Amino acid sequence: MELHKVRIVQKLNLVPIERRLEALYEGGFNTFRLSTKDVFLDMLTDSGTNAMSDNQLAAMMQGDDAYAGSQSFYRLEKAVQDVLGKKYLLPVHQGRAAENIIALAYVKKGSLVPMNYHFTTAMAHITDKGGQIVELLYDEAYVVNSDHPFKGNMNIEKLEEVIKRHSAANIPFIRMEASTNLIGGQPFSVQNLRDVRAIADKYGIRIVLDCSLLGENAYLVLKREEEFKNSDMATVLKTMTGLADLCYFSARKISSSRGGGMCTDRLEIMKELEALVPLYEGFLTYGGISIREIEAMAVGLYETLDETMICQSPNFIKYLVDSLDAKGVPMIKPAGVLGAHVDAMQVCAHIPQTEYPAGALAAALFLISGIRGMERGSISNQRDEEGNETYADMELLRLAVPRRVFTLSQIKYVEDRMHWLYDNRELIGGLRFVYEPPVLRFFMGGLEPTSDWPKKLMAKFKADFGESL
Ligand code: F0G
Repeated sequence: MELHKVRIVQKLNLVPIERRLEALYEGGFNTFRLSTKDVFLDMLTDSGTNAMSDNQLAAMMQGDDAYAGSQSFYRLEKAVQDVLGKKYLLPVHQGRAAENIIALAYVKKGSLVPMNYHFTTAMAHITDKGGQIVELLYDEAYVVNSDHPFKGNMNIEKLEEVIKRHSAANIPFIRMEASTNLIGGQPFSVQNLRDVRAIADKYGIRIVLDCSLLGENAYLVLKREEEFKNSDMATVLKTMTGLADLCYFSARKISSSRGGGMCTDRLEIMKELEALVPLYEGFLTYGGISIREIEAMAVGLYETLDETMICQSPNFIKYLVDSLDAKGVPMIKPAGVLGAHVDAMQVCAHIPQTEYPAGALAAALFLISGIRGMERGSISNQRDEEGNETYADMELLRLAVPRRVFTLSQIKYVEDRMHWLYDNRELIGGLRFVYEPPVLRFFMGGLEPTSDWPKKLMAKFKADFGESL
């Protein structure tokens, strides 16, 4: 049940399927390149799209505009100390800016960064500085239909093996991503982070914690980890951040605002990073973020402690995953955070990975519903050093459920259309690149269908649903 009411609304458009087909061709069958005027339900991401609260909007009016020494910054610094338990804060314009600065400070040619799993921008910044990454999940993480509560856990045995093989001197930090995004928003447990900490201490390696989705990870710890079943958000959040040397976050996610930040208790780390912030982001009390957004971020961080707020998106996701699963649609289970993830590898088992099944499924769902999801599969992967394709472990269509944005009837519409598409999945065909940018190709890349399958899918849709839907 929603524990909020809607007081400001935005009208949506549902354009006819013929227009949606044109829009797909105009946007290179890439949902990033669609214009929102053609989109009905925007489930591309939760980044910068979570609903803001009345208190956040009110705080924005009280921003203290100053290049240096703004009171807004000090309010944010206090919020970071209170909620994340870290003394020093360095603001940056968004999460990937922190990834850039951390990589600039610590990664060099020959560096290896172990992580539970990569995120696109985190990996791109590390490889850009000449480093490499290694992903250390347990096998369970790749099981689509699982009931494992913590698929984002780092494989501790493999971590120690990797450190011994590559030597701690070449490992600038271990990166832990809360609610591992690309395998379906799957959390790790506090106990797992403690185990990683013990190994990090043994070999003298830093832990960097990506806190962008930490609130939701902490919520699932409350729900799934025995030790914390009577605990609260504040305790779990601080326990997790307390195990890391350096935390960074995308405020677009954790606090429903804009911006990002890096925070630590360790003065030497703060000093190493501090020098880079004015060079790449802005002065140390605004870091490239508008003062108004800094105010919203501070309020948003405190709101993360409110279980009735943080539970809304995971609960809607659980509803969507469980109801589609009950209808036979292959979903990533258990339900994670950020969005519901459809297993395109199974839905489009007839499409080879060379023709991007997750991208094709994203395009097909948009065509028959106006719902914009995001491909999280091989298109989102980057080519290796020799320029070869690296196929993703999982081909997922992510349907993001930003906090407090959609109503339950809209979620039911998603369920209904996804179910119809599943029944008609044989009509979905493959895609091929016609324009492939060298870096982060999924953002602006252009593709085309390998046959006239979109037309055939549209014809079946019109036969079943009639005109103009
Ligand atoms: N880390 C994680 C876990 C993320 O999910 C993101 C962004 C970032 C870092 C980068 O933050 O966008 O502020 O630069 N995820 C968005 C998404 C883009 O749609 O999943 P950013």
